[in-house]
Amino acid sequence: MQANELDRIVTTALADFAQCDDPASLENAKARYLGKTGALTEQLKALSKLPAAERPAVGAAINDAKAKLEAALNARRASLADAKLGRALAAEALDVTLPGRGLGIGALHPLTRTLDRVETLFRSLGFEVADGPEIEDDFHNFTALNTPENHPARSMQDTFYVEGGMVLRTHTSPIQIRYMETHAPPIKIIAPGRVYRVDSDATHSPMFHQVEGLWIDHDVTFADLKSVLTEFLHRFFERDDIRIRFRPSFFPFTEPSAEVDMAFGAGDWLEIFGSGQVHPNVLRAVGLDPEAWQGFAFGMGPDRLAMLRYGVDDLRLFYENDLRFLAQFT
Ligand code: FA5
Ligand code: MG
Repeated sequence: MQANELDRIVTTALADFAQCDDPASLENAKARYLGKTGALTEQLKALSKLPAAERPAVGAAINDAKAKLEAALNARRASLADAKLGRALAAEALDVTLPGRGLGIGALHPLTRTLDRVETLFRSLGFEVADGPEIEDDFHNFTALNTPENHPARSMQDTFYVEGGMVLRTHTSPIQIRYMETHAPPIKIIAPGRVYRVDSDATHSPMFHQVEGLWIDHDVTFADLKSVLTEFLHRFFERDDIRIRFRPSFFPFTEPSAEVDMAFGAGDWLEIFGSGQVHPNVLRAVGLDPEAWQGFAFGMGPDRLAMLRYGVDDLRLFYENDLRFLAQFT
């Protein structure tokens, strides 16, 4: 009789669970069978009144029935959850009044845009664009630039050394040498690229960009240097309140040398270029006669142009690649 009774309870319970179509009624149904006074629980209580010999078999049958109910409950809970999700998705998919999400459209990094602009403007002034390696040998990064070993000017640029006597180039000036080694003058180039120094503050990043410039001909003078750099800055910023000053300075590879600072209106000066007339020893290092050829060179910091153009006060932000920052410039 007990076995039939168990079968009946299981059959009824399964039908009951299947009819519940929300979680609350399913939990109530569970209580009717497995709760304190549930039908199956009553069977368990009745066990103690059975003769000892019958108890193990009946007990096992009750446990078996209980396992069936638990499994059915779990399956029903899962299918109710799925149905709920399905309804939510269907409701959303059908709501044609929701605005479209669109695809995120990528954009050029502000430093890339700055370099593009620099290239365009120098091309319009008649310069071609050249290139060189980021890992340099000592000769091109220093020696050929009139900076022999033990020259104190080497310590102006705190250098990352790599294996085999090579360095991560500390400036784009080695491209001057490489270009003059392979091209006869007249030469009129710029050379943008990444450079590396042990440097870090609001206006210095350990990896940054420079744009080298080199113009060599029979009669290129310091006056040409001043006019090209001044013209470039005016075209780049398209502002009337721009101030530019040429500050006497020292580089082993130029003579005379000047650093070029700029400011807007009464704002603070910021150094943008190192520059000067190419030193005769540099021309000799690449086999040119300094009596026949002369000209100027400069090394510009385009990252600082980007700071001024976009009003950013710490240039390291450009290198953190936080999209919340970058998206402001698209
Ligand atoms: C040079 O590197 C020279 N090679 C420039 C030069 C070339 C002079 C040709 C004469 C002839 P300097 O160390 O001043 O010079 O760097 C040039 C420019 O790079 C600076 O004016 C500045 O705009 C930028 N710069 C330098 N260090 C950093 C840095 N850590 N982060 C960002 N910009 C920098
Ligand atoms: Mg400098």
